[in-house]
Amino acid sequence: MTAIFVARRIPDQGLNLLFEAFGEDSVVVAPQDAPISREALLEGVRGADAILPILTDRIDAGVMDAAGGGLRIIANYAVGYNNIDVPAATERGIPVTNTPGVLTETTSDTVWALLMMTARRFGEAERYLRAGAWGGWGPMQLLGLDVHGKTLGIYGMGRIGQAVARRAQCFNMAVLYYDPAEPVLEEGVPGTPVDRDTLLAESDFISVHCPLLPETTHAFGRDEFKAMKKTACIVNTSRGPVVDENALVEALETGEIHGAGLDVFEEEPTVHPGLLARENAVLLPHLGSATEETRGKMAAIAARNIVARLNGQDPPNCVNPEVL
Ligand code: DGY
Repeated sequence: MTAIFVARRIPDQGLNLLFEAFGEDSVVVAPQDAPISREALLEGVRGADAILPILTDRIDAGVMDAAGGGLRIIANYAVGYNNIDVPAATERGIPVTNTPGVLTETTSDTVWALLMMTARRFGEAERYLRAGAWGGWGPMQLLGLDVHGKTLGIYGMGRIGQAVARRAQCFNMAVLYYDPAEPVLEEGVPGTPVDRDTLLAESDFISVHCPLLPETTHAFGRDEFKAMKKTACIVNTSRGPVVDENALVEALETGEIHGAGLDVFEEEPTVHPGLLARENAVLLPHLGSATEETRGKMAAIAARNIVARLNGQDPPNCVNPEVL
């Protein structure tokens, strides 16, 4: 009998597709609404034909081997797949899939919310009001920085970077981008390709959109913050370790940059105490794609990849197609 292991409850749009295709008895959904423990993961995957993990589950060779020789797909519930040891999966002939496309617009909305909050100090302002500190309108009160008419720098001009750039047109902004992959921009997406140093020096806002790779780990550290304008803000909705949090805290404390809007952290769910202490850091608990609509679509994509693979077809969103 087919066995599908879902490592944490996902929206019904995905589960129902799996139930319809394989029957409810074939699908085991881990009961906890929290990251699954390593032990429960190793136990849960035993004998599975398919694993549907979420981005906090580390799927390495040990998990694949615990599943056994019948494992035919790992369908990640995320567009990022740094939680999966893809080379280990490839070695074993197992396709790994992700959920690209459907979360692009939602995540770029999140970028803009963070960017506006950071520039205009809205998180700090809301805390101030709720604390009962507001004594009425003041000419010098909580002054932030304008967003419109400024320069937006995009670090990694993939789908989400381009969606962020498109929105910048409404704010009459110049858009620079740095991407060593030299992508062809979709029609209507503004942007001038620049080298990394130019991006750092000329941007008023930098939005980070690269995948987490050895070469992008700590891509933003002490030197990069020093190279940025003192009025600049950084927004990170990609993966936490792209930014060196110790260096960021220092830059925020010393006024090396104006602010940071972060949706992701180096050691989630732990947040650097220096960030928690800073009024000029806007902090969200990894909510980039967190809407009813988008999370439903992500669930459906992950499920469709499993349905395709277990029915003998190529899964549409395979990141290691050499195994097909
Ligand atoms: C992803 O999919 O990689 C995001 O971080 C969560 O939506």
